[in-house]
Formats: sequence, structure tokens, C-alpha cells
Amino acid sequence: MGETLIFEHFPAKLQPSHFSSISCSLLVAKAAYFAGSMSQKPVRIGFVGVGGMGQMAHLRNYASASMAEQCEVVAIAECRTKLGNEIAKRYGVPRVYNNHEELFANEKLDGVVASQGFNRHVSLVPELYKAGIPVFTEKPLSVTVAAGEKILSALKTSGTWHMVGYHKRSDPATMFAKAEIDRLKQSGELGKLNYIRITMPPGDWIAGGFNDLIKSDEPVPADPNAEPVDWKDPLFIYVNYYIHQVNLLRHLFGEKYKVVFSDKSGKLLVAESESGVTGIIEQAPFSTKQGWQESALVAFEKGYVKLDLPAPVVHNQPGSVTVYTEKGYFSPQLPPIHAMRQQAINFCRALRGEIPPMCDAVEALEDLKIARDYLHFWKGAESCQ
Ligand SMILES: NC(=O)c1ccc[n+]([C@@H]2O[C@H](COP(=O)([O-])OP(=O)(O)OC[C@H]3O[C@@H](n4cnc5c(N)ncnc54)[C@H](O)[C@@H]3O)[C@@H](O)[C@H]2O)c1
Repeated sequence: MGETLIFEHFPAKLQPSHFSSISCSLLVAKAAYFAGSMSQKPVRIGFVGVGGMGQMAHLRNYASASMAEQCEVVAIAECRTKLGNEIAKRYGVPRVYNNHEELFANEKLDGVVASQGFNRHVSLVPELYKAGIPVFTEKPLSVTVAAGEKILSALKTSGTWHMVGYHKRSDPATMFAKAEIDRLKQSGELGKLNYIRITMPPGDWIAGGFNDLIKSDEPVPADPNAEPVDWKDPLFIYVNYYIHQVNLLRHLFGEKYKVVFSDKSGKLLVAESESGVTGIIEQAPFSTKQGWQESALVAFEKGYVKLDLPAPVVHNQPGSVTVYTEKGYFSPQLPPIHAMRQQAINFCRALRGEIPPMCDAVEALEDLKIARDYLHFWKGAESCQ
């Protein structure tokens, strides 16, 4: 017979020993947890850039009515003036500026969301740090390790922090799975962590999530100090795409890892964690025209946690989690919150000091090192930067 558990504060309070009881066939992780605390004033957010992801993955979440107790988008900086004004009108943002300098000169902010091509991070992000307030950017940190190191050296002297948008960590399913994996590692009830397999077949990553995009024919001003964009460069392609899984693997391991092998086809990254656990990332074993079939299997000696993730820009849909133990399968019913929205909530919570940023820039540099090492195994030393 099933029993419904309502978790007000999962996972901070909940350590679901409930899982060990076969009577708990349905777990309802209550939306209240995912919404976070509303005991303080809404944080004041400024946007630097409202291009494709800026609008559809970020602004529409921060500016939604149901986030009003969490945050207030007080201003947009956008160098495409017509676009900035149109978007401000659509989302009810009171003020628009032409660039980040005007934004910082005129607004008192708690945090900045700067969704930009990652090749521009090396020139723009150190400028943003100068305002001394936390910054959110998309992934990856940069194209090369050298550029990432430059960003981190600016961060060190800034006294602030930088959350990098690895949204998969914020999917309610991943948050649930991560808490359960950590609990199982600690309790040992399924034996030792044995193996992690992430499978990433390319598919429809947008899933209708760009239907409301406001487009512009205004050109984006060139940035002479940005890293080059080269869609033929295997490193550029890899850090744009599979860097998500590179990051997720470390999150699920709960510790650093190194690359130990790649097959000739480049489909397989084999890793070994610091404590000696094997992990693999299957990269494009197949592709799908419709749908998104990303998954992660976290295997213990006597059971597993399986995570299935939806398309990155999907709306109002979390992933799903299945936990298999010797007593049966459990699958929590998660709230209808998509990862990008939960990521916005998590950034606001981090700004209020309730949680650490989900992935900071210091850790994001590790991803670039893994990408470099993987390409070394796959393509040889000349492709390493
Ligand atoms: N998480 C995911 O699944 C996922 C998917 C796709 C893309 N991405 C990431 O999204 C990023 C691209 O983001 P986007 O689509 O929002 O970029 P974009 O290029 O569409 O938008 C950037 C905007 O910023 C403006 N801008 C540039 N410099 C500015 C400044 N100094 N002041 C004010 N405005 C400025 C530009 O005019 C432009 O409108 C990439 O890093 C990519 O890796 C992530």
C-alpha cells in the first residue's frame, strides 16, 4: 500500500531514510522546498544581455509573476537598444541601459545575470566582477583553460562569486537524486558506489522553449578581446555541448575525477574519480529528431539511482528519478518546475546566502581541464590548449 510523504525542506532537512521502507511507494517533494525561503526582501537583479538564452532560459523565469517574492528584475543592459526596449516592455522591466557600465553606474543590485556567448566571457566577465556583486553566466566558463584562468584571477581579487549555469544540477530530479546518492554513500545500505554512466544522445534541445523569443535585426557589436568562435574546432564544439555532462559527472561522483581513456570514435569518455570509481560519458551513441533522451545511472553494489533529464529549454517539466533497492523501485513525484526556473530560484537563494552557488567558476574551470584532457586522448596532443 502506498504512502504519501510531503517534504517541506527536502533535501536540507530530509535525509530520506524513508527510502529504506517499502511502504513509501510515492514520494512527493513539495514545491515549497523548490521555491526556497521567502522570508527576506526580493533580491534586485540586473541583466547584461537579453539575447536568445538571456530571454528564454533566464529572463522569463526571473521576471515571472510567481518569482516576485524571490527577486525583482530592476534593469536590463542591452547594446541592441531597440531589442532591449522591446524586451523591457514585454517583461515589465522598468529601466534599460546600453551596456553594463551604465547599468552599474545607475543601479544598486544584489546580482547580475549575464547570458553571453562563452567566448566573450574572458573580456566581459572580469569587467562585471568590478561591480563587486555576484555574477551568473551561462556555461562554459570560457573556451580554453588559459582564458578560464584569467577569469579566475580577476575573480580572486574581486571579493565576489560567480555561478556558472550548469542548469542540469538545478533540475528538481537532479537535486533529489544528488541528495539520495549522498545519503546512500553515507549509509552504505546499497554497498559502495560502483559506477556512473551518463548517456547523452543529441536531440531537440529547445522543445518549444523559444516560441516567445523576441528577435532583432540589430547586429551584436564585435568584441575584439573575445576568444575566437570556431565551430570547426573540436574543443569549441566540445565545451559548448558535452561540457554539461562533464560537469554533471563530477556532481554525481561528489568528487574530482580524471580522464583515463577515450575510444577512437570519440564516443566514449572514461573517467576515474579521486576515490577510484569508474565513470563514463557516452557522447552521441545515437541522435533523435524529436525528444531528448539524456540519462545518468549511478550504480551501487546492490542497487542504483537513475536520472532521466528533459531538454534544456523545456518548460514546466522536471526530469525523473528512479531508485532501485533490493526492496523495490521508488520514484518521487516532483513539482512541475523546469531546471532553468529552479536555477533562477537557486541563484536568488545563493544571493540571500541560503545555499552556496550550484556550481561556481572555480569548479567550472575543472570542466575545461577535463575537456582539454579528453581531446588529448581522443585527438592527440596537438588539439590540447
Ligand atoms: N544551458 C544550455 O543548455 C545552453 C543552451 C544553449 C546555449 N547556452 C549558452 O548560452 C550562451 C549564449 O547566450 P545567449 O543566447 O543569451 O547569447 P546572445 O549572444 O544571444 O545574447 C547576448 C546579448 O548580450 C548583448 N550584449 C553583449 N555585450 C553586452 C554588454 N556589454 N552590455 C549589454 N549587452 C551586451 C548582445 O547584444 C546580445 O543581445 C552561450 O554561452 C551558450 O553556451 C546554454
